[in-house]
Amino acid sequence: MTNLLPKIWLMRQAGRYLPEYQEIKAVASDFLSLCYNPEWASEVTLQPLKRFDLDAAIVFADILLIADNLGLNLSFEKGIGPKLSRVTSMEDYRRLRTGNNKLPHVYETISKVRGKLDKNKKLIGFAGSPWTVATYILEGQSKSDFIYSKKAAYNNEEFLNSLIDLLVEQTIDYLLNQIAAGADIIQLFDSWAGVLAGSYYDKYVVQPNKKIILAIKSKYPNIPIIGFPRKSGFLYNNYIKECPVDIISVDETVPLHVIRDWQEKNIVQGNLDPTILLTNKEIIAKNVDKIFTHLDPKKLIFNLGHGVLPVTPVENVKFLVEYVNQKFASIKDI
Ligand code: CP3
Repeated sequence: MTNLLPKIWLMRQAGRYLPEYQEIKAVASDFLSLCYNPEWASEVTLQPLKRFDLDAAIVFADILLIADNLGLNLSFEKGIGPKLSRVTSMEDYRRLRTGNNKLPHVYETISKVRGKLDKNKKLIGFAGSPWTVATYILEGQSKSDFIYSKKAAYNNEEFLNSLIDLLVEQTIDYLLNQIAAGADIIQLFDSWAGVLAGSYYDKYVVQPNKKIILAIKSKYPNIPIIGFPRKSGFLYNNYIKECPVDIISVDETVPLHVIRDWQEKNIVQGNLDPTILLTNKEIIAKNVDKIFTHLDPKKLIFNLGHGVLPVTPVENVKFLVEYVNQKFASIKDI
């Protein structure tokens, strides 16, 4: 499967660090209108591939569109990030309604991009994993303490189980539709997996991801799935053991020798710290060299440990992509 996979793409490769994104964003006026407009969203998806020699595009959308589809009045406010109506109890849960009919815009973006994208380049579809999307629904905005989410896990099992089950079902439907529209690869972002531990990690991270992966595999066995249980630390092993992903995406905190061990059985994606891209060419090259020294490049999709930061200089991304492509080109039999 490796030769069918991209060698390099970057999480959040489209977005604020690109002046051409800022231009379209200014016309669109707000982020959600941009996500729901297939004309603009497909153009933004392709922008990074016009500048850099990347092997894959990732559809321009957001993991919270699924929450918007539940009637939670999602908005993105400058300097604050996402805001949505909080769901705090079984009563609120029962009031959720699915089907705002905006998700088909994402499918249309996918088919537009697939139509324009070079045949050799992959198109990645994605969704947030249920726990990560649930944290935004439970907190109502970006938070760092996750008090409401963790309290629901510890203290309100019936409610959280219902919410997670609903998200599992909705996410399966959303991803199957993305594949039908032309996505070649799927990534599941569990950005806040690392907040949970022990049996809670199993119940709200491992099991929901597993259900989604198995449902996709039963319909589309040949679509590669990337799992990203970010900041799972020691619990990455539980995820890898239980979730039949094709590729495991690894954040910047996991040591390279541990990732190398995982490569015995798994293809990995990652794990350059996005902050490295705020430095200079010499430091970027040194850190890329380290990854290539320790990991098996035949089982590596080069990527960052998390998304490109908005303050990243464009020339550093250009240098990174050229440098990594040279590294891959210098390796025989790849
Ligand atoms: O290029 C790509 O990777 C595709 C597009 C993409 C976006 N969001 C666009 C976006 C993807 C894959 C995401 C995933 C996403 N969204 C995640 C999982 C990955 C991660 O970062 O952990 C999460 C947690 C979200 C939720 C989200 N969306 C937040 C918390 C925010 C505000 C904080 C921030 O980074 O601005 C967003 C907004 C968002 N999503 C922007 C973009 C380009 C910025 C919008 C803007 O102001 O232009």
